[in-house]
Amino acid sequence: MIKAKIAELLNSNQFLQEVEVKGWVRSFRSNRFIAVNDGSTINNLQCVIDFENTKEEILKRITVGAAVKITGTLKESLGSQQSVEVEVKSVEILGDANPEEVKLTILSPKRHSLEKLREQAHLRVRTNTFGAVMRVRSKLSFAVHSYFQQNNFHYVNTPIITGSDAEGAGEMFKVTALDLKNPPKTEDGEIDFKKDFFGKETNLTVSGQLEAETFALALGQVYTFGPTFRAENSNTSRHLAEFWMIEPEVAFNDLDANMDLAEDFIKYVVNYVLENCKDDLAFLETRLENEEKTKPMDERSEMSLLKKLEFVTENNFKRVSYTEAIDILKNSKPNKKKKFQYPIEEWGADLQSEHERFLVEKHFKCPVILFDYPANIKAFYMRLNEDGKTVRAMDILFPGIGEIVGGSQREERLDVLQDKMKALDIDEKELWWYLDTRRFGTCVHSGFGLGFERLVLFVTGMANIRDVIPFPRTPQNAEF
Ligand code: 4AD
Ligand code: MG
Repeated sequence: MIKAKIAELLNSNQFLQEVEVKGWVRSFRSNRFIAVNDGSTINNLQCVIDFENTKEEILKRITVGAAVKITGTLKESLGSQQSVEVEVKSVEILGDANPEEVKLTILSPKRHSLEKLREQAHLRVRTNTFGAVMRVRSKLSFAVHSYFQQNNFHYVNTPIITGSDAEGAGEMFKVTALDLKNPPKTEDGEIDFKKDFFGKETNLTVSGQLEAETFALALGQVYTFGPTFRAENSNTSRHLAEFWMIEPEVAFNDLDANMDLAEDFIKYVVNYVLENCKDDLAFLETRLENEEKTKPMDERSEMSLLKKLEFVTENNFKRVSYTEAIDILKNSKPNKKKKFQYPIEEWGADLQSEHERFLVEKHFKCPVILFDYPANIKAFYMRLNEDGKTVRAMDILFPGIGEIVGGSQREERLDVLQDKMKALDIDEKELWWYLDTRRFGTCVHSGFGLGFERLVLFVTGMANIRDVIPFPRTPQNAEF
């Protein structure tokens, strides 16, 4: 008896062998063909049942969503849809799914909008689309570790609960063990966080970078891959309150080496899924093609999903300074009729996503790395350039996504860093441990953060970031 996953059986040629599969019924046609899926692949296993010799009581319970155990004989299939099928000997119903109740859920066999599916995130993973996206996501995670491990990076876990705001953007979720209904108060009547668990105010981390830097200055090359949290109430298709970030940090790397690393890394992981997720990507490509057909001609993507992924792995990313980009944007319009919603007036302005997408999708038509941003629109820890007004920052912009990576060479000079912190009113006492890295054996070092969900968005061709994370945490999806 072969007990195997459907993914293996579909590629097997052990015909006439007895097999056992466990999975969920996707459809049951003509009282004869059961399509079973066990999550190992997008493809279902066709199981052909001899209904005349099967008890009516069992036939009635073979319903969409039911968990079943099927034993039978593996056969070459004559149908055009599949190459193997199972001639059923016995069906055991492991868990029923009442059709009347199924009808009220997104498991009912009709088309549901992605918005509707989001309301039932615990069930949507049983659909083809989400099964495919989540398998690709899992493979991408593996590829992330595999890239860094092969390249002698060490994986480091940085704190989730932290007292520092690495990005200085003030978008943090507070963590407290205090009874907020009856909190201890200071003399001024404010909540006294000194009496809290950690003896001070703490938050969920927005980035593990500062802690990763301390490790890079000992272990050389490190990376984090963990959850990060931002309390930005951005109701966009690119922002989540809880997302996963990959943050490599490398001692002795300058900004150019940082760009090389980011580009090489992205190419590796995209290539990995191209090679290891063929069936899921083929499904997602067809899904996207159908989606594109519903759009006006001039908004349709010129490339299929696989072409887009291959393009990224085969072509150099365009490297452009912020200053060059501003010149391009000042002299451009997104199309003949329209101006930018926020026209670029002058050097120093922060780029909006319409500008980023224009550069990538209309102007350069390839991934773009923008570098050397104005110091005053970037975080305190970035290395000041000799011009005194730009910093060694880099953002990688992707078609259909906008910013996928944010990174920089770090300010390694203690005095310059202290001046910067003073200017931004960042208390040295809060970051004494960070400043120690600049006191003891400081060196040039660089790193970046890649938003994992934005990568999954790009690779799967999905349009909304809520559809590439198992349980999206946004103001609209609070039930889980
Ligand atoms: O550009 P960000 O804010 O950079 C940092 O946090 C640095 N400390 C990283 C570093 O140098 N180690 O965030 C990095 C990336 C963005 O480019 C984006 O892909 C993603 O994280 N990101 C988000 N993804 C989903 N939802 C959000 N709210 C995100 N905010 C940032
Ligand atoms: Mg950024």
